[in-house]
Amino acid sequence: MAQLTALLVSLLTLVLSISGVISTNFTIINKCEYTVWPGILSDPYVPAMSTTGFALQNGESMTITAPNSWAGRFWGRTNCSQDSTGKFSCVTGDCGSGKIECSGNGSAMPATLAEFTLDGAGGFDFFDVSLVDGYNLPMKVVPQGGTGQNCSSAGCVADLNDLCPPELKVTSADADGNVACSSACMAFNQAKYCCTGAYISPSTCKPSIYSQIFKSACPQAYSYAYDDKTSTFSCASANYTISFCATLHNTSDTISPGQSLNTTETIVSANEIYGLGFFSPENSNKHYLVIYKYTYWGGSYDDIVWVANREHPFPNSSAILTFNSDGNLVISDGRLLHVLTHTSSGGKDTYARLLNTGNLVLTNTVSHILWQSFDYPTDTLLPGMKLKDAKTGWSLITSNTSIQDPAPGRFSLHYLASRKELIVTEESEPYWISSLTGVLADIFVIDGDYITWPSSNYTNEDIRSIRLDVSGNFILERV
Ligand SMILES: *[C@@H]1O[C@H](CO)[C@@H](O)[C@H](O)[C@H]1NC(C)=O
Ligand SMILES: *[C@@H]1O[C@H](CO)[C@@H](O)[C@H](O)[C@H]1NC(C)=O
Ligand SMILES: *[C@@H]1O[C@H](CO)[C@@H](O)[C@H](O)[C@H]1NC(C)=O
Ligand SMILES: *[C@@H]1O[C@H](CO)[C@@H](O)[C@H](O)[C@H]1NC(C)=O
Ligand SMILES: *[C@@H]1O[C@H](CO)[C@@H](O)[C@H](O)[C@H]1NC(C)=O
Ligand SMILES: *[C@@H]1O[C@H](CO)[C@@H](O)[C@H](O)[C@H]1NC(C)=O
Ligand SMILES: *[C@@H]1O[C@H](CO)[C@@H](O)[C@H](O)[C@H]1NC(C)=O
Ligand SMILES: *[C@@H]1O[C@H](CO)[C@@H](O)[C@H](O)[C@H]1NC(C)=O
Ligand SMILES: *[C@@H]1O[C@H](CO)[C@@H](O)[C@H](O)[C@H]1NC(C)=O
Ligand SMILES: *[C@@H]1O[C@H](CO)[C@@H](O)[C@H](O)[C@H]1NC(C)=O
Repeated sequence: MAQLTALLVSLLTLVLSISGVISTNFTIINKCEYTVWPGILSDPYVPAMSTTGFALQNGESMTITAPNSWAGRFWGRTNCSQDSTGKFSCVTGDCGSGKIECSGNGSAMPATLAEFTLDGAGGFDFFDVSLVDGYNLPMKVVPQGGTGQNCSSAGCVADLNDLCPPELKVTSADADGNVACSSACMAFNQAKYCCTGAYISPSTCKPSIYSQIFKSACPQAYSYAYDDKTSTFSCASANYTISFCATLHNTSDTISPGQSLNTTETIVSANEIYGLGFFSPENSNKHYLVIYKYTYWGGSYDDIVWVANREHPFPNSSAILTFNSDGNLVISDGRLLHVLTHTSSGGKDTYARLLNTGNLVLTNTVSHILWQSFDYPTDTLLPGMKLKDAKTGWSLITSNTSIQDPAPGRFSLHYLASRKELIVTEESEPYWISSLTGVLADIFVIDGDYITWPSSNYTNEDIRSIRLDVSGNFILERV
C-alpha cells in the first residue's frame, strides 16, 4: 500500500510538473570591462543545471533554462588563469575544481552571490543578492515579465572594493589592487558578526558598523544574515537576467509626454542590453540620437545599431528628444526641429519605450504600436527587423559615410522578392548579389515580399547583428 501511495504521489507530481510549471530562463550578462567566469552551484536534492561554469567576455551573455523547482546560487570568478600543468584557478570566486566547470563545488569567500529558490511557497520564485559571504564584483538580478508585490530588481551595483574598510580589504599580487571585500564574520570570526552562539536569532544579531557600510552602498542586497526584510524578492512566472557590473544609475526604459532626453541622458532597455541617447562622433559637434549596445563601464558608443537622424544631425549639445503636442517624438534645439514619428492617432497618451530587442516603439495606453524604429533600419539589422521589397515599402540598410560618422554612405542592401536575392548597391549600381542560400537561408525567413530574421533564432551561439560596413561589406556579427 505504501508503495502504491508513493507511485500515485510521483505520478501526481509528474502531471503537475508537466501542466503547471513553466520553465525559467536565466540570462547571464557580463557588463564588466574584464572577463568574468560565472560559477553555478545547485542545492542538494534538486536537479543540476546544464552547466556549472563558463567564461563570459566583456559584453557576452549566455541563456540557461533551469530545471523545474531549481534552487542554487550564481557567482562570478575574476582574474582566472590556467597554470603550466593546465590547472585552472581564479583570484576571486574560485571553486577549487581546477577546471572551468565547478562540478558541484561552491565559491571561495569573499564573493557576491545571487541566490534563487524557484517555484517555492505560493508558486513564487524567491531570490536575493547576498554580501553575507563578502563581495568580489557588482551583481544585479532583474526579473523579466514576472508578477508579484516584491517582484523587482535585487543586487549590489556599487564598487565595494573601493568603499571597503581597510580591515576587510582583500588584495592580490596576481591582480594588482583590491580584488574583494570580506564580510566582518569572515575577517574577525566573532559570533556577533556571524550571528552564531548568543547571537543566533534576528532579535540578538543586529546590523554591525560593517554590515551598515554594505547596506548603505547596496540597499537591495543582504548585508548580514538577518537582513531578510529588505533583501528577499519574489516573482511568479518570471525569467531573470543576472548581470555583472550593471548600471549604477536608476534608469528607465520609457519616455512619457512631458519628459525629455537631453544630450547627456539615456534610457536603457529593461534587460540593460540597449541604450538610447545622443552620440557625437570624435572631433565633431554633430549630434545624433542613437540606439547602442549598453555597457556600464564603457559608456562607449562603438556598437551603434540604429540612428534616428542620420540625415539631420544637430549642430551642438542643445538638442533634446521630446514629444510635440500631438504625441509624436521630435528632436529639437529651440531652432531646428526634426520630427521622428508621424502618427495621427497619438495624443497625450503616447509614450516611447526601448524594448529588450533594441526596438524603440511609440505606443499608447491600449498598447497599439504607432511607430517603431525596427521599420527604419539604418546600417544594422537586429533579430526581428524586416527587409522589405520595393513593392511593400522598401526598407534597406545603408552603410555609414565613414568609420566615425553614421551619416548615410555609398552602399545599400536591398531585398529583391521576385528573384529572392539580396543586393548590395554602390550609389545605385549593383555591387554584390547573392541568392538566399547557405548561411543566409538559415538566418532569413521569406514571408511574401519581405524577409525577416526571427528573434526566436537568436541564441548566444548565433549571429547577433547583420551590418553593412563603410566599404560595402556585408558582415554577420557574433557577439
Ligand atoms: C529560454 O530558453 C530556451 C532554451 O534555451 C529558448 O528556446 C527560449 O527561447 C528561451 N526563452 C527566452 C524568453 O529567452
Ligand atoms: C572541490 O574542491 C576541492 C578543493 O577545495 C577539490 O579537491 C575537489 O576536487 C573539488 N571537487 C570537484 C568536483 O571539482
Ligand atoms: C520565460 O522563458 C520561458 C522559456 O522559454 C518562456 O516560455 C516564458 O514565456 C518566459 N516568461 C516570461 C515571463 O518572459
Ligand atoms: C583582475 O580583475 C580586475 C577586476 O576585478 C581587473 O580590473 C584586472 O584588470 C584584472 N587583472 C588581471 C591581471 O587580470
Ligand atoms: C515585500 O512586500 C512586503 C509587503 O508589501 C514588504 O513588507 C516587504 O518589505 C517587501 N520586501 C522587499 C524586499 O521589498
Ligand atoms: C527610480 O526611478 C523610479 C522612476 O523614475 C522612481 O519611482 C524610484 O523611486 C527610483 N528609485 C531610486 C532608488 O532612486
Ligand atoms: C541634462 O539634464 C540633466 C538633469 O536632468 C543635467 O544635469 C544636465 O546638465 C543636462 N545636460 C545638458 C547637456 O543639458
Ligand atoms: C546650438 O545650435 C542652435 C542652432 O540649431 C543655435 O540656435 C544655438 O544657439 C546653439 N547653442 C549653442 C549653445 O551653441
Ligand atoms: C530560423 O527559424 C526558421 C523558422 O522559424 C527556421 O526555418 C530556420 O532553420 C532557423 N534557423 C536557425 C539557424 O535556427
Ligand atoms: C557606424 O557608425 C557608428 C558611429 O560611429 C558606429 O558605432 C558603427 O559601428 C558604425 N557601423 C559600422 C558597420 O561600422
